[in-house]
Amino acid sequence: MNSQVAAAKAIKRCRELAGITETPGQTLRTFLSPAMRECMQVVGSWMAAAGMSAVIDAAGNLRGLYPGTQAHAPRLLIGSHLDTVPNAGAFDGVLGVMLGLALVESLEGRALPFAIEVVAFSEEEGVRYRIPFLGSRALVGTVDRELLCAQDERGVSVREAIEAFGLNPAGLSSPLLDANARGYLEFHIEQGPVLESEGLSLGVVDRIAGQTRGDITFSGSSNHAGTTPMHLRKDAMVAAAQWICEVERIALSIQDLVATVGRLTVHPGAGNVIAGGAQASLDVRHPEDAIRRMAVEELVGRANSIAVSRGLQAKWHMHTETSAVRMNTRLSHLAFEAVCKTGSRPLRMTSGAGHDAMILAERLPSAMIFLRSPGGISHHPEETVHAEDVANALEAGMRFLDEFEKDLAGTEEDMHA
Ligand code: HGY
Ligand code: MN
Ligand code: MN
Repeated sequence: MNSQVAAAKAIKRCRELAGITETPGQTLRTFLSPAMRECMQVVGSWMAAAGMSAVIDAAGNLRGLYPGTQAHAPRLLIGSHLDTVPNAGAFDGVLGVMLGLALVESLEGRALPFAIEVVAFSEEEGVRYRIPFLGSRALVGTVDRELLCAQDERGVSVREAIEAFGLNPAGLSSPLLDANARGYLEFHIEQGPVLESEGLSLGVVDRIAGQTRGDITFSGSSNHAGTTPMHLRKDAMVAAAQWICEVERIALSIQDLVATVGRLTVHPGAGNVIAGGAQASLDVRHPEDAIRRMAVEELVGRANSIAVSRGLQAKWHMHTETSAVRMNTRLSHLAFEAVCKTGSRPLRMTSGAGHDAMILAERLPSAMIFLRSPGGISHHPEETVHAEDVANALEAGMRFLDEFEKDLAGTEEDMHA
């Protein structure tokens, strides 16, 4: 394979898919939306052209299988997600799927002693249901009844969305991971500034920070903006604003913690009405779960004390909590060796961003290879990649396949020794 040519093709495909969106003029694809269906049709056609059989599972994941030399061969999964945040870039998630596809194409029909399954997860960001990792949770069997009943802003449940897409939620009653799966490799843009600051092309992820996502709702009293004296107000917008500044102050005081309020919804939302209600999202992350949980407790406590001081109420609702996860030592070592064999020096890293690998890791040895993010930009239309880094990633991916084959052979020998 000419990795420069393949890299250019993968980048072109990412940019083509970025044009498949729910919002003209920006990139947005959410769980089982018409845009997601169109995107999966395009990627499915590329998979078929590469000699893969492509199916959509009960959670809407697109799964392309490139068979091994024998039926029921051990299976390596390579993938990432196709859904996006609003006003997204073209590479978050999608590049990982395109690199899995490119590695299969590089085999040009040659079968390996293991099968390759390229997985395009249906929902990792958590935009539609405020619950991330729906697609990868289905593979490990943690889509439970409560999750199926979660409703989006139009009151459509996850179960109804799956049925409306023409899929059967009953298929989620057991893990969708194939019994022959032996490992998972996810290529992903770093989405941060570290590799660029080190002048490095690729990184190998040691661990992924845990995250807590939820909402704080301040409840006060709506009233007339013109006739209500300042000292008689129960203004939910001001309470939320004071708390949001506290979130920043407290996060700055705890090393390696990040805390973000990305969404603020105010009721009734008119310029001449004092806000009676304000709902602020909260996203808290840290490599150590105990520190993250302590920080969430402190932030929620601060919301309550601000509310009480202003004669309001505050209510915390946690949507999801995902524990910090270490990547598989053996598979990460194979990834590290593979990158070294390309002549690049990989950086061992912690990921502040969540990834499907942190869910797959519950049931499958998982590893991640990061690509440099120019400008450290992500979740933004200016998110991009260097073609040379994509070519390096493909070279590393081909060496990873060699390493994985040797490792499998070694494991099989051990089992039969
Ligand atoms: O927000 C994240 O951690 C990632 O983009 N899913
Ligand atoms: Mn993302
Ligand atoms: Mn991502």
